[in-house]
Formats: sequence, structure tokens, C-alpha cells
Amino acid sequence: MTTTVLDHPLLHHKLSLIRDRKTPGSLFRALIEEAGLLLAVEATRHLPTESVVVETPLERTGTQRLKSLDPVLVPVLRAGLGFLPAFLQLMPTAKVGHLGLYRDHDSLVPVPYYRNFPPLLEARPVFILDPMLATGGSASEAVRQLKAAGGVNLVLVSLLAAPEGLARLQGDHPDLHLVLGAVDRQLNERGYILPGLGDAGDRLFGTA
Ligand code: PRP
Ligand code: URA
Repeated sequence: MTTTVLDHPLLHHKLSLIRDRKTPGSLFRALIEEAGLLLAVEATRHLPTESVVVETPLERTGTQRLKSLDPVLVPVLRAGLGFLPAFLQLMPTAKVGHLGLYRDHDSLVPVPYYRNFPPLLEARPVFILDPMLATGGSASEAVRQLKAAGGVNLVLVSLLAAPEGLARLQGDHPDLHLVLGAVDRQLNERGYILPGLGDAGDRLFGTA
């Protein structure tokens, strides 16, 4: 498994505001989107390009364009939706799949409730969007479902990860690529990331 933790002053600054319990919901949502933009730049670093020739208003020149079919973005509902606008801003022709998972409050096991993936997963780079990687159960299930549907080139983008979740993914999906904003200390007894940011879905959508 390859793991990149983005070390960038703008991300550190935004994360300090995102973690702050006093940050209101509207600002929290905007900051998650901005953090998503920074992570999207890193997550797309290895997209293949090909040489093309274009005519500028002045002369012909060689330049680079994306080579593969449009990427697929798969936000894990609900919190993954917070990253989607940023990724679509950078890749407006991307296809979007949706995966509904929620953690059972007692067992922390992910419960699937919705799934809609675009075709040709096997031929496209797939970006799985979920700001939170806690026990790793949801991410592991998302990767399992995408692989079963044909996906091979999978990148998981998360803002915060717990060591427990990273260990789980390393065991379940050693071929996965991860792009993270930070690795936090540990999980608490209810499976929340410490120090973390609380419940991402609730803070994004005002359901706390
Ligand atoms: C959160 C988060 C992840 C999951 C991470 O979703 O967005 O999908 O928990 O936890 P895990 O690594 O232990 O599986 P949640 O289940 O709270 O659903 P929600 O976004 O709809 O609130
Ligand atoms: N999901 C969240 O939203 N926050 C956590 O800390 C863990 C799982």
C-alpha cells in the first residue's frame, strides 16, 4: 500500500479550523471543500498524460493532455460528498459513482444501503472520497465493492486517518493508494478518531 500524507501549510491551516468545535457548519463545509481541492491536486499527480500538438495564437507547440478515459469519483455517503465539488472542479468530465455506507453504532461494521457505479471501471482511474478513515471498515468495504465491479486503479482520499484504519487497509487491500491530510493518534472506544474532528457527516449536514 502506498500512503502519501500531504504536508502543506494551507492544509495545516484549514485543518486547524476544521478540527475546531467552534467552527460553524457553513464554514466547516467550505473548509472541507478547500481541503479536498488540495488533496485532489496530490491524488491526481500520477494520472497518465500523452503528448499532443496544439496551435497557440502564435505557433504550433507540443503539450500534454490526460491520456486515460475520464476518471471516476466515488464519494462514500454521506461525508464523501464534502469532497465531490472540489474534485469535479478540477475534473469536470469525471463520472460519479455513489456508494451509501453507514457504520452500525454498536458493531462499527459498515452497512451498505446504496450503490450506483458508472461503466468501464476497469479502464478508468477511480478516486474514492471519504474524509474519515477510522476503523477502516467503510473504506475496506468500498474498495471491495469497487474491485468486484472491475476497478483496478484505486486511490482513496481521506482527510484524517487513524493508525487502526491504516493497518486494516494494509491487510485487506495492500495494492491500494492512499492520499491523506493527516494521521491522527488513535480511536476512542466508540470508534471516533482522536483528536479528530468529530462526526464529519453530522458537521457537514447539520444533523448532530
Ligand atoms: C463515517 C465516515 C466514514 C466512516 C469511517 O461515516 O464518513 O465513511 O464513518 O469509519 P470507519 O473507518 O470506522 O468505517 P458514517 O458511517 O458516520 O456515515 P455518515 O457519513 O452517513 O454519517
Ligand atoms: N466517522 C467520523 O465522521 N468521525 C470519526 O471520528 C470516525 C468516523
